[in-house]
Amino acid sequence: MEAITGISASVTLRRVARRDELELGTGKVIFIDDHPIALFNIDGEYLAMDNTCPHRGGSLGFGEIEGENVICPWHGWEFNCRTGISVENPSIRVKLYHIEKRDDGIYIKWLG
Ligand code: FES
Repeated sequence: MEAITGISASVTLRRVARRDELELGTGKVIFIDDHPIALFNIDGEYLAMDNTCPHRGGSLGFGEIEGENVICPWHGWEFNCRTGISVENPSIRVKLYHIEKRDDGIYIKWLG
């Protein structure tokens, strides 16, 4: 864990994956302080959002990827991985997390 200076003492960068950990177009669930986060590799870019689907709590990290969208495995709601916005209902948005790609891995900026 590395503190980010100049922003806040409670903001940290958490290393969550190796740079080559996810194949293109795949996702997984990682945990930070027991909080589940969906991590995706979309076109070589790592993206992260809350893992819990706002419909009924499905695990978005286990969803199928189509383009830059993830499809919830439970009932098929679809969210854009770059914006977190629901494809079917743009008033619904999943929280995103800032990713930083470093030489030694993939980091998430975490307010803890
Ligand atoms: S829980 Fe995700 S679509 Fe229903």
